Amino acid sequence: MNKKTSTPKIIIAIDGYSACGKSTLAKDLGKKLGYGYIDTGAMYRAVTLYFLRNKVAFDDAEAIAKALSDITIEFVNVKGKNRTILNGEDVEEEIRKMYVSNQVSPVATISAVRRSMVLQQQKMGEKKGVILDGRDIGTVVFPTAELKLFLTASPEIRTKRRYEELKIKGQDSTFEEIQTNLLERDHIDSNRADSPLRQAEDAVVIDNSNLSKKEQLAMVSALVKQRIKGLK
Ligand code: DC
Repeated sequence: MNKKTSTPKIIIAIDGYSACGKSTLAKDLGKKLGYGYIDTGAMYRAVTLYFLRNKVAFDDAEAIAKALSDITIEFVNVKGKNRTILNGEDVEEEIRKMYVSNQVSPVATISAVRRSMVLQQQKMGEKKGVILDGRDIGTVVFPTAELKLFLTASPEIRTKRRYEELKIKGQDSTFEEIQTNLLERDHIDSNRADSPLRQAEDAVVIDNSNLSKKEQLAMVSALVKQRIKGLK
């Protein structure tokens, strides 16, 4: 007789500072495990783009509530690549531009915005078998996630990685401009009143300054294996 054994699915929360390789790890891990990937930073970026385009003032509670009810964010996979869709429009490239990066942290301090995003993220992840990357996944969105990771890397390395990433995309920002943006975002993200960026007590901390993508993936895959084994 054919005995069907199914592997339990878990939630993997990846939090950490800006440009510390969260999304690269989440994507690689998603492919390896056959898990879905939710880029929660892209959701805050999409909201920021909508606010900027529609001139929604960041202190206008009524306009913010109306905008949030008009916003739909989805993720689709096109030719193996994750794309962010805002009200039917593919905004994947636009939300990575510097003018959005410069405004996203203030938008992410707005409690109404956070409440709306967190609810959507919890819904997207309810079936498990997902990886979410962000700032508050292990602390607020899924505090019961089976595996929580907190990534860090030195500011110089994070700036260099983001600089090279944007250069490949043809977006010419200077090293200084990128470093200022990253450090400012880290500061706002870590000091905001509502769900600040912080390490969950039960998170595994990984400083990937001197790790290759392959080494990091191997390390995390071993942790996933261990957690799943613990559930069987
Ligand atoms: O991951 P990212 O750099 O694309 O995120 C953009 C901004 O969104 C980041 O500066 C803070 C905010 N963010 C957040 O507050 N909570 C999350 N879960 C994800 C991102």
